[in-house]
Amino acid sequence: MTTPPVTTIEKLSQHVGETVTLQGWLYDKSSKGKLHFAKLRDGTGIVQCVLFKNDVPEKLFEDVGHAGQESSIVLTGLVKAEPRAPGGYEIDVQSGRVLQAVQGYPITPKEHGPDFLLNNRHLWLRSRRQWALMRVRDAVITAIRRFYDERGFVCIDSPIFTPSACEGTSTLFEVDYFEQKAYLTQSGQLYGEAAAMAMGKIYTFGPTFRAEKSKTRRHLTEFWMLEPEVAFASLEDIMQLAEDMLVFLAQEVLRRRRPELEALERDLSKLERIVAPFPRLSYDEAAALLAKHPESTFKYGDDFGAPDETIISNSFDRPVLVHRYPHEVKSFYMKRDPADPRKALCVDVLGSEGVGEIIGGSQREDDYETLKARILESKLPLEPYEWYLDLRRYGSVPHSGFGLGLERTVAWLAGIEHVREASPFPRMMYRLSP
Ligand code: 4AD
Ligand code: MG
Repeated sequence: MTTPPVTTIEKLSQHVGETVTLQGWLYDKSSKGKLHFAKLRDGTGIVQCVLFKNDVPEKLFEDVGHAGQESSIVLTGLVKAEPRAPGGYEIDVQSGRVLQAVQGYPITPKEHGPDFLLNNRHLWLRSRRQWALMRVRDAVITAIRRFYDERGFVCIDSPIFTPSACEGTSTLFEVDYFEQKAYLTQSGQLYGEAAAMAMGKIYTFGPTFRAEKSKTRRHLTEFWMLEPEVAFASLEDIMQLAEDMLVFLAQEVLRRRRPELEALERDLSKLERIVAPFPRLSYDEAAALLAKHPESTFKYGDDFGAPDETIISNSFDRPVLVHRYPHEVKSFYMKRDPADPRKALCVDVLGSEGVGEIIGGSQREDDYETLKARILESKLPLEPYEWYLDLRRYGSVPHSGFGLGLERTVAWLAGIEHVREASPFPRMMYRLSP
């Protein structure tokens, strides 16, 4: 007799009528006389395994009887198509082994508070909803890399220790770097610009840090950012790039993560509506929209707050590109609009369903003297930016890019409330462990 092949739950459709071995953990169990119904999860899915006392070794039947939630188990059995079972398959168990029988797993199917769950994040990841979210996140990461690779972008990793700020000095994490002060990077952009002058089209993709003293559902202190940067690109060019990318991300998640979206009870029609073209509004047009809204407290000239973004985004059924903000509310490196120098050539993309900003980008100031003046106006020290100014000394060209927050994008696509569940081990003002 040949030993049955080891397979995974997501591949059961290829093994109907065959005997296979599954390796995993006990997700749930119910027993009725001579039957155990064991729900096994293996990281790729969940399947019901039926153990009939007369068909399996006595020890296995007893061991499974004593095994609590999250006991580790290997089971061998016949794969049956079972339209009534969740996932569509069932295993008629013939043999197997309980590797570790456990009792008292802390996370039970009852309701738990967010603090308890976050304290147990290392275990919480095993729950079906968290499993689904991590697989959506994985699909978004893979789709991002594919999207840029297929378009000839080169991936460039930017450093995490940096000598200077990119996005304002109020959210810097300071690190003691030997005899010197360093900061955890807020954005890879400045390095991305250097790389774009070397490679033409690049993207950076990695962890970024903000000492955000805010406890909102949109803020983490450590999050991943994707940042494409393109030489010779205008603001309009990267707005188009952002739109194409978001459409692709939604399509890829729909194509590759259906069961996960179902586990999350995601309204798929909302994702199917993420198609081009996205509405484009200038800051002035968005401000006019808010002025007409009874609940808005927005003042012209300010940056949009979270409630303003929600109102704007809820006025449309797909993401919105808001461009040309007053330069005072934006960063020093943004180029001003020649048609209206009070405005920056920038864009924020607001996700649909009221989720707020997921992308921020701009055309960059490419003139040496102007950029130098902006650094000084922003009260930043010139010395750490000398290398950045070199990019305007030697072969400066128009160029543009943007940053997409990975966790906000995953939360938006997965339809979840808080970004913390979009990160495997979220870092927030009051959360550094596990
Ligand atoms: O708008 P931001 O600050 O833009 C930059 O950092 C630019 N240097 C990017 C560039 O042009 N290359 O951040 C970009 C995105 C935001 O739109 C948001 O999605 C995400 O990063 N983000 C955060 N996500 C979670 N927690 C936070 N504290 C975040 N801060 C920004
Ligand atoms: Mg921003």
